[in-house]
Amino acid sequence: MSLHRDGSITTFLGLQLLLLFFCFLSPASFSDATIPSTLDGPFTPVTITLDTSLRGKAVDLPDTDPRVQRYVTGFQPEQISLALSSNYDSIWVSWITGEFQIGMNVTPLDPKSIASIVQFGTLGDSLIHTATGSSLVYNQLYPFEGLLNYTSGIIHHVRITGLKPSTVYYYRCGDPSHGMSKIHHFKTMPVSSPSSYPSRIAIVGDTGLTYNTTATISHLVQNSPDLVLLVGDVSYANLYLTNGTSSDCYSCNFSNTPIHETYQPRWDYWGRFMENLTSTVPLMVVEGNHELELQAGNKTFEAYSSRFAFPYIESGSTSKFYYSFNAGGIHFVMLGAYIDFDRSGEQYEWLKRDLAKFNRSVTPWLVVTWHPPWYSTYTAHYKEAECMKVAMEELIYSYGTDIVFNGHVHAYERSNRVYTTN
Ligand SMILES: [Fe+2]
Repeated sequence: MSLHRDGSITTFLGLQLLLLFFCFLSPASFSDATIPSTLDGPFTPVTITLDTSLRGKAVDLPDTDPRVQRYVTGFQPEQISLALSSNYDSIWVSWITGEFQIGMNVTPLDPKSIASIVQFGTLGDSLIHTATGSSLVYNQLYPFEGLLNYTSGIIHHVRITGLKPSTVYYYRCGDPSHGMSKIHHFKTMPVSSPSSYPSRIAIVGDTGLTYNTTATISHLVQNSPDLVLLVGDVSYANLYLTNGTSSDCYSCNFSNTPIHETYQPRWDYWGRFMENLTSTVPLMVVEGNHELELQAGNKTFEAYSSRFAFPYIESGSTSKFYYSFNAGGIHFVMLGAYIDFDRSGEQYEWLKRDLAKFNRSVTPWLVVTWHPPWYSTYTAHYKEAECMKVAMEELIYSYGTDIVFNGHVHAYERSNRVYTTN
């Protein structure tokens, strides 16, 4: 849905696998009395009847869809994406070079064989600055008879720094010896202050890569967001066997597999489909349950941790599962629901430090996100995140969190103000 400056509200496709809404966060919105505030509540719950003309069943894009094909050759960059650093003056550029392999025997590419270079500047025909970064590959291994292993292309992450606020930059990425991307552009966030905000932020969860996804992302792009938050559950590669066979109900249809398999090429398909958006608009991701992806050696979250850049070090975190950043006058906190959140743990200690630095005179808005909601009417996930709520609710409440965004439930729902279930 969109909250417009004139106070009207537009809802759009109530898609099955997606929760998505836009916020205008500007001084005009703050003082707009035509938009009811939660402070005016509590309101009587309202349920909008499902529009049966909408697609009722999410259908994945097939491997043959042109939008998921590899369009580059050799070691030219693909799947280009941006992520904010902790402040406006820095941004992450990520991309992939080389082809993934899937089979019984795979040979990982050498990350050092391809350089990670971004050339950038404020003029499209004069990219006078250069930044270098690091690269890696990850493996998704299933050492069981008949299952296939995966090794990724080379994943590059470069952080470019020294950027000015609210400024358009042009860039290309790659390795000059093997091919650079075409020139893309992005706009930096405004300086953090009570009077400067990104004009539009999209928040999406549980995207997958279905025909519903394409409709929602198309709608999202048409609304020209300055920033996109993805609150967990990304590619749904874990609804597939390693041979590429999919199912709506993995546990029902694949009950005899020795391990919960995944089909990692779905991640590459997702990155290719999203590139038009993510090469221009920063995407901030936090993990969902579909990113767990257990493999050999009890490794988990390898695709999530490898493919995306996160400003975790910049925000004082030691984990890619939780971090924070500023976007104009908003301080965003991204929490990890699938890592230790106990009061004696590192995440909780980091959150205490992060919130202690939160300065409402610089960033008046405090927005906190994580994947599974603490409060929802969806009974299938009833109290699923109760332990996290018990551990963390008091802390984020004590700092006056303004808005919480979650995913996990594949429907749009918003609640009256709530604390400790009241
Ligand atoms: Fe989920």
